[in-house]
Amino acid sequence: MSTFGTLFRVTTYGESHCASVGAIIDGCPPGLELSAQDVQTQLSRRRPGQSDLTTPRNEKDLVQLQSGLERGVTLGTPIALLVKNEDQRPHDYSETDFYPRPSHADYTYLQKYGIKASSGGGRSSARETIGRVAAGAIAEKYLKVAYGIEIVAFVSSVGKVHLPSMLAPPSLTPLNSDEEDDNAEDALSNDFIQLLSTITREEVDKYPTRCPHSETSERMTKRIIRAKNAQDSIGGTITCVIRNVPAGLGEPVFDKFEASLAHAMLSIPATKAFEIGSGFRGTEVPGSRHNDPFVRGEDGSLRTATNWSGGVQGGITNGENIYFRIGFKSPATISQPQETAQYDGTPGSLAARGRHDPCVVPRAVPIVEAMAALVVMDNLLVQNSRKTAASLLPPVTTLPPTMVLPKKEA
Ligand SMILES: Cc1cc2nc3c(=O)[nH]c(=O)nc-3n(C[C@H](O)[C@H](O)[C@H](O)COP(=O)(O)O)c2cc1C
Repeated sequence: MSTFGTLFRVTTYGESHCASVGAIIDGCPPGLELSAQDVQTQLSRRRPGQSDLTTPRNEKDLVQLQSGLERGVTLGTPIALLVKNEDQRPHDYSETDFYPRPSHADYTYLQKYGIKASSGGGRSSARETIGRVAAGAIAEKYLKVAYGIEIVAFVSSVGKVHLPSMLAPPSLTPLNSDEEDDNAEDALSNDFIQLLSTITREEVDKYPTRCPHSETSERMTKRIIRAKNAQDSIGGTITCVIRNVPAGLGEPVFDKFEASLAHAMLSIPATKAFEIGSGFRGTEVPGSRHNDPFVRGEDGSLRTATNWSGGVQGGITNGENIYFRIGFKSPATISQPQETAQYDGTPGSLAARGRHDPCVVPRAVPIVEAMAALVVMDNLLVQNSRKTAASLLPPVTTLPPTMVLPKKEA
């Protein structure tokens, strides 16, 4: 449905060519200082028309905060966020009255509802993600102020152009072809772990591709322009890190933290894959190398020496950086003619007019960050409500010490 979250509940609304798109957030804590600019910054990173690499649809995507705050402070009541659709061109899409676009959502929406929006993909359009990005920006503000949590996503591949292997997530590093050699490679590179700890949005935004590596970004740009000039499209991957998340978030067993992240990420249009930590590469590394041994951290708490787990074990965060990667397919709408069939089965050729993204990953970066913020925010509120409820009980003194969390020395 159109609502995400348990205690921080976000409902998005809107279609590609309707009057406005946006979201209603229920459950935002009261007392948070919030301005339209807090939300606008992320919306402007998502907006179309940012560069030659994105759709030329020209939307300012200026947000209006309609309710839930006064004098720049949240009231704890529902926050409504509205962004007008201004540059709709429904006439661009007349050929798709007859043809469902191959690998888009026209056919399946019609099958599901028996009716569909007449143009622009309706609800399946990426315009819907405006509500998510706006809501995610509010969650992020709270997470930053209350916990110092930071979320940064960046483009890690476009087509076959990848970040250099020392900076790439484990499953993007080259494979050792020797089936008998368990020790030949160290796929979890120190440079990648370092990148996760230090990367900032400012560094990511220096590049139109949002890949924070100059030479790779240039090759990605060429790859996207090649797709665009051929009236074609190309996919890519985004890697995201969440820093400073406390240990203990995630709701076993069906709402494990990584399950919630996967749910959130795979709900973004055009996503086809999700992996966390070592991901698919973890299947190739023996346990003796893949395990993350515990060590005493600087503050005396337990940390892990390595982080193949990606910050989540047993579906619960362990306090290490959470990192994951999402695969986006090549966008479906392309202008070169494709042999396909009309709704009534008549074979024919479709060359989709209209304005399209040749590659979605540069614009999807803030969407990934927003969905990550919604997952962390919701899980924090749930865990805090459990902790608050437990803290009201008298201390239990009858249990052996091995059953309870050791008390921290003052
Ligand atoms: C930021 C962003 C921009 C997108 N732009 C386009 C586009 O211009 N053309 C297109 O066909 N799909 C685009 N998509 C993807 C479609 O919305 C999506 O493929 C479609 O709804 C079908 O859903 P599915 O791919 O998840 O199955 C975009 C997705 C994102 C995240």
